[in-house]
Amino acid sequence: MYLLTKQFHPINFAFVQSHAEKRISDPEAAFDIAITPYPEDIYHIEIRNPNRWPRDYRITRVSMSEAGSDSGSDSGSDSGSGQERAATRIEVDLEAGFRWVEKAGTNKAGTNKTGTNWEEPLLSAAPGSWFGTSGSAWIFCFGHDPDMECYGLGEKHTPFERSGRAYRFWNVDVWADHPIDQVVKGDYDPDYLSIPYLIIKKGNTYIGLLSDNLFPGMIAISPENQVAQQLKIEIDYPPAISVGAEGGVPSLYCIYGPSLHELTCKFQRLVGKTPLPPIWALGYHQSRWGYRSHEDLEALARSFAEHEFPADGLWLDIDYMDNFKVFTFNRKHLPNPERTAAEIEEKGFRIVPILDPGVKQEKGYPVYEEGKENGLFCRNRAGSEFAGMVWPGFTVFPDFTLAETRKWWAGYAKAFFEKGFEGAWIDMNDPSTGPIDCTDMLFERGETEHAAFHNSYATSMAKATIDGFKAAHPDKRPFLLSRSGSTGAQRYAAHWTGDNFSTYGHLRRSIGKSINLALSGIPFNGPDIGGFGGDCIEPLFIDWVKAGFLFPFFRNHTMRGSRPQEPWAYSEKTLKITRHFVRLRYHLLPYLYNLFMDQEETGAALLRPLFYDFQDSDEFPIGKIDDQFMVGPALLQAPFVDEKERTREVTLPAGRWFRADTGEWISGGRKMKVSRKAESTPLFIREGYLIPFLPGKRTDNRADLKRIGIFCSLPKDFEGECRYRYRADDGVSFDYRKGGRSTLEITARVEKGRLILKVSEMEKGFGRIELIPYTVHRYSEVVIQQDGSEGKLQPMKEVVRMTGKLMRWYRWQFGSHP
Ligand code: GLC
Repeated sequence: MYLLTKQFHPINFAFVQSHAEKRISDPEAAFDIAITPYPEDIYHIEIRNPNRWPRDYRITRVSMSEAGSDSGSDSGSDSGSGQERAATRIEVDLEAGFRWVEKAGTNKAGTNKTGTNWEEPLLSAAPGSWFGTSGSAWIFCFGHDPDMECYGLGEKHTPFERSGRAYRFWNVDVWADHPIDQVVKGDYDPDYLSIPYLIIKKGNTYIGLLSDNLFPGMIAISPENQVAQQLKIEIDYPPAISVGAEGGVPSLYCIYGPSLHELTCKFQRLVGKTPLPPIWALGYHQSRWGYRSHEDLEALARSFAEHEFPADGLWLDIDYMDNFKVFTFNRKHLPNPERTAAEIEEKGFRIVPILDPGVKQEKGYPVYEEGKENGLFCRNRAGSEFAGMVWPGFTVFPDFTLAETRKWWAGYAKAFFEKGFEGAWIDMNDPSTGPIDCTDMLFERGETEHAAFHNSYATSMAKATIDGFKAAHPDKRPFLLSRSGSTGAQRYAAHWTGDNFSTYGHLRRSIGKSINLALSGIPFNGPDIGGFGGDCIEPLFIDWVKAGFLFPFFRNHTMRGSRPQEPWAYSEKTLKITRHFVRLRYHLLPYLYNLFMDQEETGAALLRPLFYDFQDSDEFPIGKIDDQFMVGPALLQAPFVDEKERTREVTLPAGRWFRADTGEWISGGRKMKVSRKAESTPLFIREGYLIPFLPGKRTDNRADLKRIGIFCSLPKDFEGECRYRYRADDGVSFDYRKGGRSTLEITARVEKGRLILKVSEMEKGFGRIELIPYTVHRYSEVVIQQDGSEGKLQPMKEVVRMTGKLMRWYRWQFGSHP
């Protein structure tokens, strides 16, 4: 069997070659092009033709209001201002094609080598074959150079680097829509979540193309070779990158980095950033399909306490409901949900229950009756309610395109959250309709074809659910986890990568998958740790925890019927090892939490490929590496993701690194071999960074963000100065937006054997922060300069195990007593 993503192809499109003559006789050929240059080298191209695309179906439009950070205002209409400082220029004409050129000499990242003229082409399209249509489908085609690497594309279960394939943007329920063998062992496309955003890497210059359109779409990167190889035939077609959709207004954003960091920040600001989550959402989450009752939650809470294993979220899957009916409780399992929520919270945990969009089609069930009476469900072509077949049997689907439906759903969600839940998990929102074809599901009271809103179904559901949350808990930050989504979904929810398998292949694939998702606007994401389908064997469980313990979202979840996957369900040794890494996550929570603050402020990614922070070069290539990653700018992980590997190669980028498993400083800019050790994982801390952490033993999720250790990653001969901004707030409310935050700006330098930390209190709305410097060196002196005065600290030896070896650190404090 050949597995090829079925796609439309430019070969079947009519390209606008002679539309000037045709447009007079044929209104369908009368295209107008609108090009809007925005500040910071973001260009918006929209092709209009009211006969072909009479309506705009985008429910979450991207917004330019934040994208141009230097302007700070919506300068959409003021296209001139951004252009004066532009580093690139776009020349585009429907007939003459497309050229995006970079002004030589403006790119610090340095692929532009000569001159000062506008000349280096970033992307171009040949005259006459740039824009094509086929009915309401449309396509943009660009030349594909061999020196391009491609990334992004949202969630895709295909190799990390995306070249040589065609991709479809159409949310699916993976297990229901692809052959299961392919899901377990191979690649598949499409996936649960669709973001038609392509990142093109040319050396160290990065550009992004976003199709701002929610119709079923496609992006193809010279897929002909792959097809030719699979079918063993010859295909003669010029290499091309094509971006298109089956309908809706053709709308393309061209975004220039030049660095990947700049590109990601611009893109994230354009599509919306993720609001700062409550800090508990960054903790460890325990889930299993089967958890359903008060007793289950009690038992989990007890086990975590008993094992001194820190955790935050305890999850309830579909069986907590009465017959899988959304917004109900099975009273046998949860006789009093309010009491359960209160008692479990009292013990220090949050309950996260699941909510599916499918409403059981059952007489007398109020959610169904009300929705039916008010015409809030999607219709079929025959004009009656569209029914799918999901967990409760025949189910109908709220039509989230209607404002009334969203309001109605938000009302139920409000009552649900008022029971004491501070988060929810929205699933099956692809939408999954089981064995019944979803394309018969129409929107807007049966007026609008399915394709127009399929991909945005989950995002609208997330928005309506968040509205309910805000009504229930106006002062609390919401937490929502969603399976599906579309461009902009990160404004409302975190996303997990859906139903994976307990195999090493899935573990390895999860890294590149989560990185590309992060670069595509979904910073808060992660896979089911341990794997969802199948039995997770003991070494895999350990390796998955080690690989994922610093992922933005960290949840152990598994399928009904699979072997128990709680950390204590294996041997004592496994419990000890996994607990160590989960505790390490809790130690590093202030670092992770501050990365989320950065994300909310600037759009910076948390999970990053090596080439996000480091330059790629021919001598020392760092592209395509999908088994290593950075967490923020300071931590590098190179986990073991292959069962048989006893040693692995680590590509260590330039600079010096503190190896957390051995306690040595290592020079980067080279590859090295590391051996597998049961208790440790290769974790490297970058030279010149200050890392906030929670000191002391982390046996539960309690965190005092005001008493903070700062690990100073500075070798004794460190030159220069490093700077870090540590921020703390209450972790749950919106007070931080109204002054309830404390911020310390810390700079550090080493001078003649002395470590000098200069601390400035920038904000103190959350109270005074106590800072405790930690070092691996015994400096002759550690000095804190604050408010014009200087204090000398005393070293206290402390034995620390980060990962692997016990090592000696120094904790620096005033006076000689701890
Ligand atoms: C879907 C979800 C999975 C969940 C199951 C039962 O398969 O992706 O996480 O456990 O449904 O609700």
